[in-house]
Amino acid sequence: MHLQKLVRIVVQFDFLQIENANFFAHILGINKYCTRQIKEVTLLLNEGAMKGVICYYSATGNTKLACLYIVNHAKGVIFDLFNIAKDDGLNLGLYDVVGFAAPTDFMGPPFIVKMFIDGIAVQNDKPAFVISTYGFYSGKTLIIFKDWISKKGFKVIAGHSLHTPENYPPMIVKGMKSEHAPGLKALNKFNDFILELNSLFNSGHIDELAEAKLSIGIMNSLSPVYPRTKARVDMGNKYVDDSLCSECGTCKTVCPYGAIRLDPKPVFNMDKCYGCWSCFNHCPNKAIYTEKIRNKGHYPKPIEKLREKLK
Ligand SMILES: Cc1cc2nc3c(=O)[nH]c(=O)nc-3n(C[C@H](O)[C@H](O)[C@H](O)COP(=O)(O)O)c2cc1C
Ligand code: SF4
Ligand code: SF4
Repeated sequence: MHLQKLVRIVVQFDFLQIENANFFAHILGINKYCTRQIKEVTLLLNEGAMKGVICYYSATGNTKLACLYIVNHAKGVIFDLFNIAKDDGLNLGLYDVVGFAAPTDFMGPPFIVKMFIDGIAVQNDKPAFVISTYGFYSGKTLIIFKDWISKKGFKVIAGHSLHTPENYPPMIVKGMKSEHAPGLKALNKFNDFILELNSLFNSGHIDELAEAKLSIGIMNSLSPVYPRTKARVDMGNKYVDDSLCSECGTCKTVCPYGAIRLDPKPVFNMDKCYGCWSCFNHCPNKAIYTEKIRNKGHYPKPIEKLREKLK
């Protein structure tokens, strides 16, 4: 089918969202080249939309999937994604709204996120929203996250915690995998949150919106806040099975705290280690183990059930 004809249909049906254009292209069986062209056209059609960025950390992909889901369902804002652990050169001046997203890590946002936020220049009430994912019990994560961002001069207009599968190996080996998360209720709440975001984005006065009061429920608000060292102590010493290690360097690449050097097998610096289990989860040969856990409990990427739900 001719590209121009397709573009006309896209316009006619007001298919301003990229995923709709992709879907449309898919059912018509057009090739990837055309899909790319349509993406460009839909981006042009969306020119009047606000620009947003979601700054995320995602050790094993759950949080990134949640961010992509928001990006694909947002109306009135075109989002970029900024990976806190990898990307640099963020220019917040380009954006009308900023999202922050991270997994729960010992009842709080991960330390790498704190380091990132500490390095951001103080803002003047820039609208922001906050997302956390959690595998079992998020505690005060969302409130702590909001607090960090607010102290940097962002105005937090919305926030949400999403229940997702567990990526913490000690819980996985106990059989507490939260494989079915988010359940229908949690997924509906997440969709409601995105609708709420869309109505805020399209209110016409995003700069004048009031700060949100985030509700986390009584049980979460009673939960303790753990010191940074708790995660490291809990994980304990890490070891490498030399017979399995292929010296591929993945563990060093995924360590967000620069706690691994290769010699040529990995050597761990316990002063820098934050006990995040990222090296353990991502080692392609399951060569890394601890005193408590060996050769089981890995979560290298989002499970299929989650990917299906957050398409
Ligand atoms: C070191 C570590 C600590 C965690 N702590 C918590 C926690 O306190 N509460 C909770 O509900 N989930 C906890 N989790 C689970 C993750 O928050 C959850 O699986 C999340 O969706 C992972 O997101 P990601 O794939 O984007 O990294 C923890 C996971 C890890 C690896
Ligand atoms: S990721 Fe695993 S196999 Fe690769 S260097 Fe690290 S321990 Fe060795
Ligand atoms: S050494 Fe492993 S557990 Fe420690 S911070 Fe790095 S990736 Fe996380």
